[in-house]
Amino acid sequence: MDVPQFLYGTAWKEDRTPALTELAIRTGFRAIDTANQRRHYFEAGVGQGLAAAYRAGIVTRADLFLQTKFTYRGGQDHRLPYDPAADLATQVAQSLASSLEHLATDQIDSYVLHGPASGREWSDADAEVWAAMIKERDAGRTRLLGVSNVSPRHLIQMVASRAEPPAFVQNRCFARLGWDRDVRAFCAERGIVYQGFSLLTANPEALHHPFVTRIAAREHATPAQVIFRFARAVGMLPLTGTSSAEHMQQDLASLALPLSEQEVGAIESLAG
Ligand SMILES: NC(=O)c1ccc[n+]([C@@H]2O[C@H](COP(=O)([O-])OP(=O)(O)OC[C@H]3O[C@@H](n4cnc5c(N)ncnc54)[C@H](OP(=O)(O)O)[C@@H]3O)[C@@H](O)[C@H]2O)c1
Repeated sequence: MDVPQFLYGTAWKEDRTPALTELAIRTGFRAIDTANQRRHYFEAGVGQGLAAAYRAGIVTRADLFLQTKFTYRGGQDHRLPYDPAADLATQVAQSLASSLEHLATDQIDSYVLHGPASGREWSDADAEVWAAMIKERDAGRTRLLGVSNVSPRHLIQMVASRAEPPAFVQNRCFARLGWDRDVRAFCAERGIVYQGFSLLTANPEALHHPFVTRIAAREHATPAQVIFRFARAVGMLPLTGTSSAEHMQQDLASLALPLSEQEVGAIESLAG
């Protein structure tokens, strides 16, 4: 499948991960975001949820977009998906092999570097990991590649080092930064798809803003739906990690909300 409209995020669900992954698919999500980072995600549980959905005949693997991540040692707890003594390229290969096993597939759709090694720059370690990820892609174990938690500086340095640009950037999206305006502009210029997370939790000022609540009331919708619809309208691929069946339905239904160009522009500059 091609790039989806909405991503269902599986962080922080622990034992509920299999059931919530299955429920998300039953509700209509066709794209799943996870990570081989046991500290925040239960990737094997995502695999159990997928298996249940396959068994129930709701979808096949070909109907789904599966995305997972490589996480550096510093972002992990003791439950590592690789040998910490191995070099970074080997860690990438081991982590992805373990992800493919968890998700019971021989190819994922997107493999994402969870975050650069340093908050300040695109480092030699990142270059090494990215080269290893490209090797995995060329070997057919992922279709596309992405980076997450990056600043404009990371991206500029990455591109300046002549590294192949990512297909995806996944960032926490703050309304007070013009909804990550600079990174989104960088992505738009290069055909990179911007994936936004924490669209609701990072932005209470937008969620409760009278401009947003008025549109919600007019459309008999919720402010959360207006925010997700706005995110699509400016070209983002939004993530939702809701644990509620009702919110899952509302999030998918938000894609049909009518928003005028003026309203989209106004929400874009609501907080920054
Ligand atoms: N790359 C990274 O470093 C990174 C970091 C964080 C997250 N992520 C990804 O992004 C996904 C989403 O995480 P998030 O930070 O955006 O937070 P989230 O897990 O989606 O949390 C959203 C919160 O808003 C509430 N909510 C209320 N109304 C809602 C509605 N209509 N739809 C959805 N939620 C509603 C949810 O409560 P209910 O559950 O009751 O709906 C929940 O408490 C994660 O699961 C993960 O896959 C990636």
